[in-house]
This record gives sequence, structure tokens and C-alpha cells, in this order.
Amino acid sequence: MGVVENAKLTVVGAGSVGASLAYAALIRGSARHVALYDVNTAKVDAEVLDLAHGTPFVGSSTIAGGDDLAVVEGSHVVVITAGAKQEPGQSRLDLAGTNVRILEDLLPKLLERAPDAIYMLVTNPCDVLTVAAQKISGLPSNRVFSSGTVLDTARLRWLLAKRAGVATSSVHAHIVGEHGDTEFPLWSSANVGTVPILEWAHGQGFRREELDQIAAEVRDAAYRIIQGKGATNHAIGLSGARIVEALLGDESAVLPVSAVLDGVHGVDGVALSVPSIVNSSGVTPLGETPFSDEERRKLHESADALRASIASLGI
Ligand code: 2OP
Repeated sequence: MGVVENAKLTVVGAGSVGASLAYAALIRGSARHVALYDVNTAKVDAEVLDLAHGTPFVGSSTIAGGDDLAVVEGSHVVVITAGAKQEPGQSRLDLAGTNVRILEDLLPKLLERAPDAIYMLVTNPCDVLTVAAQKISGLPSNRVFSSGTVLDTARLRWLLAKRAGVATSSVHAHIVGEHGDTEFPLWSSANVGTVPILEWAHGQGFRREELDQIAAEVRDAAYRIIQGKGATNHAIGLSGARIVEALLGDESAVLPVSAVLDGVHGVDGVALSVPSIVNSSGVTPLGETPFSDEERRKLHESADALRASIASLGI
């Protein structure tokens, strides 16, 4: 399809995640036009005004928005951040029932206004909501997906980079599976520079227990942040903006986003993150990604946990 010219991104939900995502998209120039929609008039108007006041300091991107669904019209990408968020101690899956109901109301209205857009879910539990969104919308799985473990992957790369003493851009590693408690790293294909991480021998090298501890730190990162400040917003905002750039810039970047899989890696009918090609046609799982036997087992455990959540909701 090529690079999308004069691209429009609409962010649905003007809470802390939606506002941070719009802010990141403006600063990074992820889309020429950014719109923010929320049912809360006072909140969305205030966020749009606050963002607009910053536009003299960014590139040529514009910001608009409000409580009228007309703001969604003409969108190439719609990012959904609306919904209930985790309270301290709650898991992402605890939000499933509430947020599926919100999606059932919201998504048909968005589709009426932007039938040709690509839809990305950021609201949690994003994997479960992706299955619901596909059923509600009838869209093909390349056009409705979630930000998945792109954020968790950033957390992993940051921790590994600090530990190895290299730039984050030189750490090639992915978190896959559920964006949640059953996620895990693909250590078998992770590299620092050109060195496979399992062979990394800089200083003391990474010991296996250290890798396990880093994986646990990534998995539990959101709980720690929610305990301290009530929500996570900045890094998910940047992650979302990065994915939008890959879509609108037709980059074919490989990112661990979550779409409903149809047999890739032996997973069917469940959405979870695997390295996927992201371009202006949407997302396509990279079937060639190697998994060790243990990683394949963990992927299926993650799929089973998500399947149980989906079944309990009757989606
Ligand atoms: C995060 O991982 C809570 O899903 C959100 O930051």
C-alpha cells in the first residue's frame, strides 16, 4: 500500500494512556493529524487544548478532538485506550468483563465513522479484547490487533542493555505471549549485538538465574508502577506511537504485536504476541520465528490461559 500521506491517527480515550499516546505521537511526528476522542467532554477538551499549546514546539503534526464521534472520520489508524484500568493488586485479565462490554458499545460506532481504518487495542486485557474486537467488527486479523508485548519488549531491552553496558538499540530480544502474567522472553533467539544472549560472556556474563530474574522483573513491572503512581502511561504511549509509525510509514518493521492467530506456531483462535511484520496493510505474524521446545510449551500455556479467559466471558 505504501506510506500513508497526510495520515490521520485517532486515539480513543483521553485518560492517562490516551493523552500520553497522543503526546508521544505529536512529538515523534507519528501521524500528520492526531485526534483525541472521549465521552468526557471536559476532560477531552482540556487534553486537546493542553496538547495544542505544545504544537509550536513539535513538527507539523496537528491535534484536534472532542466528544463527538465525527472526530474519528478519515482516520487511517484508530487506537483504543478507553476502558477500566487495573487497581493495585488487580491483574489485566480481571478487567476483561468490563472492558469487553465497553468495546461492544464503542467499536460498532467507531467502525461506522472509520470503516477502512486499522484498529489497535491498547486497553487491557489487550489480547482478550483483540479476540472480542475481531468478532464484533468482522475485520480480518491483519486490521485489528493489539499493542501486545511491544512495551514488555522495551522493558526487557532496557534491562538487558543496562546489565550488558550496551545501547538498547543493540539488544535484540522479544517478550512474547500474553501481555500479562504468562508472558515470557524468547531467549533462544535473543542477541546482544551479534552475540547470542545465552552465550554472552562480557564480564561475568549473564547467568541463567539472572535472565530468569530479568524476565520476572519485566512481567511484574506494571504492578510495581501501578503500586507507586496508580497507572502506567508514558512508556505505553511511546510504544503505541512507535507501532503507529510502523503502520503509517509502511515500514514492515518486526514488532511483537498481538493478532488472532490461525495456526501460526500451532496457536489457533487466540490473540497473543509473536514477532509480526507491521506495515500499512496491518500486521502479519512472522511464521519463521524460531522457538525452542520450552518456548513453544510456554507459548501454548499462555494461549491456554487466554483461552480460559475468553471462554469464561462467552466471547
Ligand atoms: C502495562 O504493562 C498496565 O498493561 C499496562 O504498563
